[in-house]
Amino acid sequence: GVDDLEIRAEIKALLKEKNAVLVAHYYTDDAIQELAEETGGVIADSLEMARFGAAHDAETLVVAGVKFMGETAKILSPEKTVLMPTLEATCSLDIGCPIEEFSAFCDQYPDRKVVVYANTSAAVKARADWVVTSSIALDVVNHLMEQGEKILWAPDQHLGGYIQKETGADMILWDGACIVHEEFKAKGILDLKAVYPDAAILVHPESPESVVEIADVVGSTSQLLNASKSMVNDTFIVATDRGIFYKMRQASPNKRFLEAPTAGSGASCRSCAHCPWMALNSLEMLRNALRDGSGQIYVNEDIRQKALKPLKKMLTFQA
Ligand code: 13P
Ligand code: SF4
Repeated sequence: GVDDLEIRAEIKALLKEKNAVLVAHYYTDDAIQELAEETGGVIADSLEMARFGAAHDAETLVVAGVKFMGETAKILSPEKTVLMPTLEATCSLDIGCPIEEFSAFCDQYPDRKVVVYANTSAAVKARADWVVTSSIALDVVNHLMEQGEKILWAPDQHLGGYIQKETGADMILWDGACIVHEEFKAKGILDLKAVYPDAAILVHPESPESVVEIADVVGSTSQLLNASKSMVNDTFIVATDRGIFYKMRQASPNKRFLEAPTAGSGASCRSCAHCPWMALNSLEMLRNALRDGSGQIYVNEDIRQKALKPLKKMLTFQA
């Protein structure tokens, strides 16, 4: 509405005034993704968000996503101001892996390389040998296997199990899960596929094994977006947050994109296929963060320096 138009104009002016750039994840609202596009920012997966923020020469990064993304940006760019529309936007994987328990877990297996998913707190990253995102997890684990390493993996059990199966690596897994992807159901997807037999099934590896097994493509958000562009199918069943449809439809306006069914699909479902924390990022809070400097990310310097090591390895890793 009119209010939104005004807020968007305010945000654009504030981005210039504060020498700030918008770094948005694919799961944020369309309005935020549009703003990132229109203002020279980026819409990206979590690895590309980290790369873009670290390489950009803006004084301020406005990270629209969830907290671990803001923390990663700050760890990589301590000299920049890192703002988020809200500091309440967290992630079930981060919540499910508190540093005290994680440290005790690591202490139990001193002979293993500790590989953590980017969806973790700065303190957990500080305890890790490697940080990975879903786009490079397979390649990093393959690389460690070639060096004869055994692995301790946290926190996503589905992504960890998928990597273990693909690589045959010796891995001990933490038992975390993403509350959004965990809900996708293979049966519902196959029922939908029966209606659209030519549909390709695109799956984020945070989904359960039964869903990953029926996928045509398994990958990070960017990898799934790329698949939707390059594959010739006219219909896609997509098992990830529906925020990705903004870019998928923009890139392929003549293709049909369907949300993969979840257990709760239907009238009773409020946050199926949409991350409730990503959804907290509103235009208004984005404006307030820029205007008032609210939602600023701070990371303890000792933790930052420790977490920087595996994060740098993540950014420079070549398969
Ligand atoms: P990507 O790295 O694929 O963007 O995933 C981040 C995430 O939180 C998925 O739920
Ligand atoms: Fe975390 Fe899942 Fe939300 Fe991604 S979609 S931020 S993994 S809760």
